[in-house]
Amino acid sequence: MTAVGIDAVEIWTGKLVLDLPGTFAPVKGEEPEKYTKGIGLEASSFPDVYEDIVTMGANAAKRLMERRGLTPDDIGRIDVATESSFDNSKPVSTYIAGCLEQLYEEDFHHANKGERKFACIAGTQSLDDAYNWIKAGRNRGRSALVIATDTALYERGDPGEATQGAGAVAMLISEDPDLVELSTEQGYGSADETDFLKPNQQFPSVDGKRSVQVYLARMREALEDYESVAGDTHPDDFEYIPFHTPFPGMVRKAALLGYRHMTRDTDVEAAMADEIGRQPREADFGSWDEFEAAIRDYMDALKKTESYRDWYARAIEPTLAISEQVGNWYTGSVHIARISALKNAAEAGRSLSGDRMLVGSYGSGAQAEIHAETVQDGWLDEIDALNIDAQLDRRYDLSYDEYEQVHDAHNHEKETEVEEFTAPEDEFVFTGWGRMNERKYEYVE
Ligand code: HMG
Repeated sequence: MTAVGIDAVEIWTGKLVLDLPGTFAPVKGEEPEKYTKGIGLEASSFPDVYEDIVTMGANAAKRLMERRGLTPDDIGRIDVATESSFDNSKPVSTYIAGCLEQLYEEDFHHANKGERKFACIAGTQSLDDAYNWIKAGRNRGRSALVIATDTALYERGDPGEATQGAGAVAMLISEDPDLVELSTEQGYGSADETDFLKPNQQFPSVDGKRSVQVYLARMREALEDYESVAGDTHPDDFEYIPFHTPFPGMVRKAALLGYRHMTRDTDVEAAMADEIGRQPREADFGSWDEFEAAIRDYMDALKKTESYRDWYARAIEPTLAISEQVGNWYTGSVHIARISALKNAAEAGRSLSGDRMLVGSYGSGAQAEIHAETVQDGWLDEIDALNIDAQLDRRYDLSYDEYEQVHDAHNHEKETEVEEFTAPEDEFVFTGWGRMNERKYEYVE
């Protein structure tokens, strides 16, 4: 069976940065530790005034195509996943293809283009579409370009304001991939939920506390569904577990639940029994409330065990390093968690070929998906070629006033004149609107 998966990746971060504990927290009258320890974010990325989901996506895709020596003839489909689209008809992929065509002699006229929407999980769904297209033998030897791009902005004053972010991840999906092979087995947890939504509005309506519970419930369903086809999971099966990361504190909660689930009825649970007892079983309790209280006590004890802490430090913590510096990238978020883990392994000089990861995606509304990935031999060259640290370092550090200006500049309801904070170089920029209210882009040398 042909292996299909992610052959190459590139990221593009918004070029501005807001220091959350240093700049944001003091104005909000909050302690910096709420960010550094609680939510788990150091900073959020923001787009400069000439950046948007098209420029960030096109700039990531351009880097990827250049680095891999690709031309438009090598690409059979372009799928964009976003929940920040500005058009209900014309997909963002057509704008991105139009940008790239400014630089190539060939065009993308024979590539299938589309836009995927299901909150943050749409990036993973686009990977699925590309995977299925290749597995069905319809790709004519070509690869798919999947681009997850978002400006995750919340209404000012909304609790979600602390978790904003902006950036794009471009992924090349091919046969015999260099980075990771995707498993055929996958599990879903999906239900009609109203935890986070944007009914024809730019900024989301959010029930933040409930969204956390819905994330956990759907993720658990997805894990059970995955196990029903792939067999039981064990913490030692996977080197890393990248999750959708709206903020690292959310992943901390998901990881603890996941560990409890994966260790139930295993050698790990037995080994910890002397220290914290065995996991409470519902049948042993007279009421649901008593059972839930026992579970809470067990979880409190579990997270302090050496076994859990070692596993968390090995399999989860490394997935959060980029997210901590950029905030929520919505559709791109789980994909930067994967890159973050592989980058960590590369920096530690680890050999990873053939090792497996379990990937947990999530989108509000709500759906979780879990699949496994096998790291391929070319992973190290691919990860070494990324310039993530340089991109993060060169971001312009916003004052609080400047942050408000940038937020207003990207607010579709506001007319503002804000000067750009950085100078574009070798990249696509937004230049204004055309006669049919379409957005216009140019490449700046
Ligand atoms: P909040 O209510 O302002 O924060 O917003 P909080 O008071 O709950 O504090 C956050 C954490 O910091 C808590 O930790 C506090 O204890 C801790 P926890 O108890 O949860 O473990 N904390 C401190 N720790 C140390 N020192 C201190 C301190 N102060 C507080 N001094 C909330 C939190 C998540 C509600 C908000 O950020 C929000 O609404 N975010 C947006 C929604 C969201 O991200 N939900 C996540 C799940 S849904 C999802 O992932 C989908 C999404 O990506 C969208 C999509 O799919 O398209 C959002």
